[in-house]
Amino acid sequence: MINWNGVLSEIQEFEGKKKTLVQLNGLAVDSLYGSMWGLNHRYMTLQEALTKDFANIVGYTICRIRRLVEIGPISFRVHKLPKIRRMGFGTYGWKYNHKLIALAVKHKLLIDTAEGYGYGRVETELGEALISYNAEITTKVSRSHMSPKALPAAAYRSRKKLGVVPHYQLHFPNNQYSDEQMGQALVGLRKLGTIQSIGLGNCSVDMIESMQAFLSDYSGDVIRSIQMRYNLADRRIERSVLPYCQKRGIAIIAYSPLGQKFSALRTTTLDRIAIQHNCTSAQIALAWVLRAPGIIPIPRTNNVDHLKDNINAINIRLTKPEIRKLNNAYR
Ligand SMILES: NC(=O)c1ccc[n+]([C@@H]2O[C@H](COP(=O)([O-])OP(=O)(O)OC[C@H]3O[C@@H](n4cnc5c(N)ncnc54)[C@H](OP(=O)(O)O)[C@@H]3O)[C@@H](O)[C@H]2O)c1
Repeated sequence: MINWNGVLSEIQEFEGKKKTLVQLNGLAVDSLYGSMWGLNHRYMTLQEALTKDFANIVGYTICRIRRLVEIGPISFRVHKLPKIRRMGFGTYGWKYNHKLIALAVKHKLLIDTAEGYGYGRVETELGEALISYNAEITTKVSRSHMSPKALPAAAYRSRKKLGVVPHYQLHFPNNQYSDEQMGQALVGLRKLGTIQSIGLGNCSVDMIESMQAFLSDYSGDVIRSIQMRYNLADRRIERSVLPYCQKRGIAIIAYSPLGQKFSALRTTTLDRIAIQHNCTSAQIALAWVLRAPGIIPIPRTNNVDHLKDNINAINIRLTKPEIRKLNNAYR
């Protein structure tokens, strides 16, 4: 049951423009430019807005609030991730397919996207496809917007297109601006409710440590995830980033878990183990990524049967000898 009295709208100034921030129990669920609810009040409960004839405008917001109440914020308590939340769905090169999205949402997959995918098209289409669903979404800021000045507008655009408050990642390391500059911008967005939590990508342990040190001092924010390439043939993160993150409960969002082009990842060892498990080779490749705690693979697929396979890979348990064989085969 939604406590509508817990829903507040507040007018804020954002980049010199008036903005209505809609919050539920302190968590932002929507933010609209202009005084959309005709608000002269600083605060107004949603119940009041409804009685003041703004029902059409707030209808959209109600939909978002219902979704948030049902699903709650994204949980990255990695060591406690329920089985079902350990699989993701990558959308690089995604072609709109409602069946895929419905299935991904039904199984509570973590949907990964980026503002740059399809030159912005993917975020827009995902937002439209997800309008009547609860979903957990992570997105990434493009390299060209990775400055303290450009970041807020980029995050705001992503959040608006997606229709949900995303987990937000710096796609790549940034060499131009200090942790202080980027960290302040990220925390500002988190406080404003434009993003839910903060992640980094393609980075080293030094970079994670340095940004975390700033965040701890500045606001107490925590880096929730690191997005890195990880698959049978590319195990570079095992040297330092993976153990570092596992020790600290930071989720690893593993991209290209099927090697980007799965045919290139296939070996006879993989195929043999798949036959023993009565499953596909791709499922074994994903089960291998999933063998360690705190890792969320985000395989991309445009094929419904493949997506079903990927979801079922969560239930495959590899034995220690099988893991050893695979490790040796891809050494
Ligand atoms: N942060 C970064 O810098 C970064 C970089 C690259 C990617 N990513 C993210 O990671 C996601 C995944 O990585 P990726 O796109 O590089 O490739 P990937 O997931 O490693 O591989 C995708 C390929 O695997 C095939 N596939 C998927 N499931 C399959 C299954 N069950 N059986 C057989 N084949 C299967 C797909 O073909 P079908 O469509 O035919 O299934 C596709 O050709 C991206 O979509 C993106 O969200 C992030």
